[in-house]
Amino acid sequence: TSLHFVTLVGSLRKASLNAVVARALPQLAPKGVRITPLGSIGDFPHYDQDVQEQAFPAPVLAMAEQIRAADGVIIVTPEYNYSTPGVLKNALDWLSRVALQPLAGKPVVLQTVSPGAIGGARAQYHLRQTLVFLDAWVLNKPEVMIGLALEKFDIEKQELTDQKTRAYLTRQIEALADLARKVAPRV
Ligand code: FNR
Repeated sequence: TSLHFVTLVGSLRKASLNAVVARALPQLAPKGVRITPLGSIGDFPHYDQDVQEQAFPAPVLAMAEQIRAADGVIIVTPEYNYSTPGVLKNALDWLSRVALQPLAGKPVVLQTVSPGAIGGARAQYHLRQTLVFLDAWVLNKPEVMIGLALEKFDIEKQELTDQKTRAYLTRQIEALADLARKVAPRV
């Protein structure tokens, strides 16, 4: 049986290292797993309950629907000031308010990329906390924290070149596939 995962990127920067990783994932997916990108969270307005009560913004509803239809979500994000980037938190705040919460019961993995040595680990633990409230099923291990990223990418070509990192990403996606099959077994 085949699985479909979607990627959610927490950086809006054109040359984002996290976006480079997200774009590499479809090629790194194991057999039977298809990976496609979600839309940009840059299209979401700032969360405002008054706006929500008038009407949910179309990009929020569209992304909620894509997540609902997917077997799992791969969040690829930088760490900002030891935490989740505001733009990603904003997106999760919006998605959390949609009826039939799209992330509830959804298998999720986290990936962070940073030029620093810690690889965004601190952001992951804040993100995990938020995802507890959203009732997502966040995979524990393997954890993907890509540190010292400038040594692992060809920045000019916008490519993740480090083979060990590429292999590790495949392992994590395999683990997400195992989790997805347990959460929603298919016949
Ligand atoms: C950063 N950066 C950063 N890195 C890190 O490892 N820990 C941190 O707490 C922070 N904090 C931080 C705050 C802000 C506002 C910015 C703009 C940057 C550096 C960050 O990892 C680096 O810019 C990455 O390249 C950002 O990811 P993208 O945009 O390349 O995907």
